[in-house]
Amino acid sequence: MKLVNGYDLMNYARKYQHVLPAFNTTNLEMTYAIAKGLMEANLPGYIQISSNNLRLSNPDVIAMIARDAVKDAETPIGLHLDHGKSFADVKACVDAGFTSIMVDASHLPFEENVRESRRAAEYCHFYGIPVEVELGALQGKEEDVVNEEECKTDPDMVADFVERTGCDVLAVSVGNVHGLCLNPRIDIPLLARIHEVCPVPLVLHGGSGIPKEVIWEAKKHGLIKINYGSDLRKAYIGTFGRAYEQNHNEHDVIHLSLEAVDDVAAKARELVTMINEH
Ligand code: G3H
Ligand code: ZN
Repeated sequence: MKLVNGYDLMNYARKYQHVLPAFNTTNLEMTYAIAKGLMEANLPGYIQISSNNLRLSNPDVIAMIARDAVKDAETPIGLHLDHGKSFADVKACVDAGFTSIMVDASHLPFEENVRESRRAAEYCHFYGIPVEVELGALQGKEEDVVNEEECKTDPDMVADFVERTGCDVLAVSVGNVHGLCLNPRIDIPLLARIHEVCPVPLVLHGGSGIPKEVIWEAKKHGLIKINYGSDLRKAYIGTFGRAYEQNHNEHDVIHLSLEAVDDVAAKARELVTMINEH
């Protein structure tokens, strides 16, 4: 199957009442692993890469690998730009064939967030690509981006923000955190209040560490996508770490890389299955 357009992916998820995992990749092996895990589970989701990760390659290379990784898939898989930090990154990913985009201007004052998000949305919508934006800020560490301050999403600002940005999905801050150093404490009543006033579906970042029961509850309040990064990176690094601990002369990269693909695929399969059990 080709990479699936984000609108079609979300419609598929709504039709079959799925939550879509968005799994962060960093390299070739993790990209193949994510596709493998989704295909083995036969459940839909996204391969995603953040602006921060574009330092290691470029949107064209990433899209080429992702297209190859999903070519035998029978479940729909999209390719998403996560935490898009600039219009240049948004444009480069759209032009490379990404099928879903997040523009993350949540670190800016409200009016600037609106302006930057709107600009990206107008560009993406010209190409029929949905746009995720963020209102509020998560604590924690997302790759190189560390945010000390939590700023929960204000329900009173949601309708205006969604309308003025023209976004298709909204990433919210309701006690979710990035990374594995902090414990998420999801404020379900706040999520429910946001859902009541929000005309678009919701996204939870910081999926690693959120208990399954909380995710199943969040599904009742507009959740359509949940992002996972740290859990997969930990699985990938663990493969090489265990090998090195056993043998400091270890140098069989191809064997370990294939093993890492299996380990990350197993984690992706476990997560996508878990979030869709209810
Ligand atoms: O955008 C990426 C996710 O929010 C990653 O969060 O590393 O806590 O799973 P996580
Ligand atoms: Zn995130």
